[in-house]
Amino acid sequence: MNNITIAIDGFSSTGKSTLAKQLAKHLGYVYVDSGAMYRAVTYFAMQNKLVSENYLDKEGLIKKLPEIKLHFQFNPDLGFAEMYMNDVNIENEIRTIEVSRLVSKIAEISEVRAKLVEQQQAMGKNKAVVMDGRDIGTVVFPDAELKLFMTASAHTRAKRRHDELIEKGQHVSYEDVLQNVQERDYIDTHRDDSPLVKAHDAIEIDNSTLTKKEQFDLVLDLIYKFYY
Ligand code: DC
Repeated sequence: MNNITIAIDGFSSTGKSTLAKQLAKHLGYVYVDSGAMYRAVTYFAMQNKLVSENYLDKEGLIKKLPEIKLHFQFNPDLGFAEMYMNDVNIENEIRTIEVSRLVSKIAEISEVRAKLVEQQQAMGKNKAVVMDGRDIGTVVFPDAELKLFMTASAHTRAKRRHDELIEKGQHVSYEDVLQNVQERDYIDTHRDDSPLVKAHDAIEIDNSTLTKKEQFDLVLDLIYKFYY
């Protein structure tokens, strides 16, 4: 069996990470959540008062980028790798609605993208990796053997994200989550550097009406048919 690189891109809350984790577990691959890295830089910028709803000190952040050391560490109890910044576990801190509101601004900065893309490429150099994000099939791994592009309606995605946040005890309204999903869609697809686009050789999966299991089975079928 040849190890391959699996790139999963798509809009926020399209179930990319659920599918990526299922695939990584089944195939014995490493799963990398590239969005967690953009969230980590955003959290750093928030801690250092470099970003807020109506403020961004872009030059200040670029100067401080060398201070940010990121790594993932596998947590066997959770079954996936958690995000660490400067050796501190920040997995919970990066999943708040505050980080979600600010992350697109940070992800627009080319210097941030260059730093993270370099690290992502290093993580994937031995293949056997499933990475999800916005530019994985287009920029990070343009030669990936399997590229998936996930979509679902904004309503479906907002409902999923809202359910997740409520389950974690974060009290946010469905309308706020929907607005955040729509704003991020707009910024992610309109930014100058590496906007979210479907790679010409990506397979599009609309999972609005698919269960997690149906989606997983569909992709696994593809992998065994074409790549193993
Ligand atoms: O996948 P996510 O929602 O956790 O990603 C958070 C944000 O990071 C998202 O709004 C866009 C950005 N992002 C990106 O620009 N490129 C990636 N490869 C992954 C995420």
